[in-house]
Amino acid sequence: MKKYIIRGNKTLSGNVRISGAKNSALKLMAASILANSKVTLQNVPDIEDVNTMAEVLKTLNAKVVFKPQKNRLEIDPSSINSFEAPYELVRKMRASVLVAGPLLSKFGRVKIAIPGGCNIGARQIDLHLKGFENLGAENYVEHGYINCAVKSDKAKVINSGSKLKGSIINLDFPSRGATENLMMAACMAEGKTVINNAARETETVDLANFLISMGAQIDRAGTDCIEINGVKTLKGTEYRIMPDSIEAGTFIIAASLCGSKVVIENAIWKNIEIFCLKLKEVGIDIESRGDNTIVVRRLANTLNTVYISTLPYPGFPTDLQPIIAVLLSVIPGISIITENVFENRFMYVDELNRMGANIKIDGHHAVIKGVKNLSGAPVKAFDLRAGAAMVLAGLAADGITEVSDIHHIQRGYENFESKLAGLGADISLVT
Ligand code: EPZ
Repeated sequence: MKKYIIRGNKTLSGNVRISGAKNSALKLMAASILANSKVTLQNVPDIEDVNTMAEVLKTLNAKVVFKPQKNRLEIDPSSINSFEAPYELVRKMRASVLVAGPLLSKFGRVKIAIPGGCNIGARQIDLHLKGFENLGAENYVEHGYINCAVKSDKAKVINSGSKLKGSIINLDFPSRGATENLMMAACMAEGKTVINNAARETETVDLANFLISMGAQIDRAGTDCIEINGVKTLKGTEYRIMPDSIEAGTFIIAASLCGSKVVIENAIWKNIEIFCLKLKEVGIDIESRGDNTIVVRRLANTLNTVYISTLPYPGFPTDLQPIIAVLLSVIPGISIITENVFENRFMYVDELNRMGANIKIDGHHAVIKGVKNLSGAPVKAFDLRAGAAMVLAGLAADGITEVSDIHHIQRGYENFESKLAGLGADISLVT
């Protein structure tokens, strides 16, 4: 079982370059299904989830070539002749659900394994399915699979030509996945679709820009009301994926915990503005240098406790909640984090408390009583961001920390340990 061994209390300094965004790359790979010819994606991170999404596309008989050393991925969807996303891949990675909208739009039907929950919550897809029904599909569950088909007797055969119909969709919650799946489904529907209460995340805008580069007609992406006018075909394209905001936030906290001066390149302040302003409130010396570079200096003076509430973009990102908790756990006084997006995103707290933190969970709130320092211990990664938080805690702790189950971390961080080591961290990967 692979794990990280970290010897804490090293000072970090120097430059680190952020990779392409996982939560954009996976959607653009799914959206490539819609094209009638080859798609080339640049700045694709070399991470496990990209390999899994490539497997899903190959299961559909798309041609996929990934050159990880060049972060370049080529997808030729013209050979796709299946509309079924298999259980073992959907179970492994929930984002596989995002092939549903493209398959439904292109072939008039899709069969997808029910993804099930994960460590941070139930992760329902009811909003996706309700939106498909708004667009003229019907859904039924059979043997652990959801079948969606455009309402017409022709939809039972592939390439039936049955088309979704544009509609007004009102989302109960600004779900990112539902917004993205429905935006992809609407691209080749007949007529106009309006998605109200849409997600506004920057990765969702990246997806819209990618679809537009294929010939889609999408307006007002990035607002809570996205308008899509269906077109007949979408063509192949070449597109560069945006940088990963959550990876940038992860390195910003690493620098806040034990950096002297760390320069984070390919980090867009606007995409994580609330998070950066919160760190200023804490008293961290953080500034944007304008050329998509963020500089963090660890100040000697005392840091301030803060209150944090996670919300959909542009609110404080839930994915950085476990990450900032590590910093707050060593700031004297009481900080409070309220998690409003997922129902179970405090799994990492028990592990952090084993390293000497003093955090109490009360429903959706984590009450953090700052301690002088953390001490190294063997801990587990429960999910992607909780795992990254354990690594950061190890960097700041006295002594040695072993982080196990690191496959969770390798799903979403490219060259994580070598980037940290490049800044001066004492971290090694052992199998
Ligand atoms: C995306 O998940 C991200 N994943 C998550 O990042 C991120 O935490 C999340 O958005 C919130 O920002 C990817 O982009 C691959 P949602 P997604 O649909 O799309 C409920 C990471 O660490 N909901 O906005 O699944 C749902 O249960 C991962 O990179 C429904 O109830 O998020 C959750 O409580 C973790 N019904 C909330 O909405 C639905 O049909 C947010 O879900 C859909 C969602």
